[in-house]
Amino acid sequence: MYICICKGIRESDVHELGKAGVTCPKKLAATLGLNDKKNCCGRCIKNISKFAALAEEEFSCAQSSVLS
Ligand code: FES
Repeated sequence: MYICICKGIRESDVHELGKAGVTCPKKLAATLGLNDKKNCCGRCIKNISKFAALAEEEFSCAQSSVLS
């Protein structure tokens, strides 16, 4: 499912970043190109905490599966 139309970002893209340990909102925004004022409507940078929550959730799952 697409969660950002401007950049064509899918929920699975954010999950993959989370698995790789990219959960910091600033790093997520930079990696996903959401600071690009020319080509983004600005909606997703305002909601970056939701992206971070998705990434963090995936990171936590990946960590718990490594530990078990
Ligand atoms: S829909 Fe994501 S920046 Fe516009």
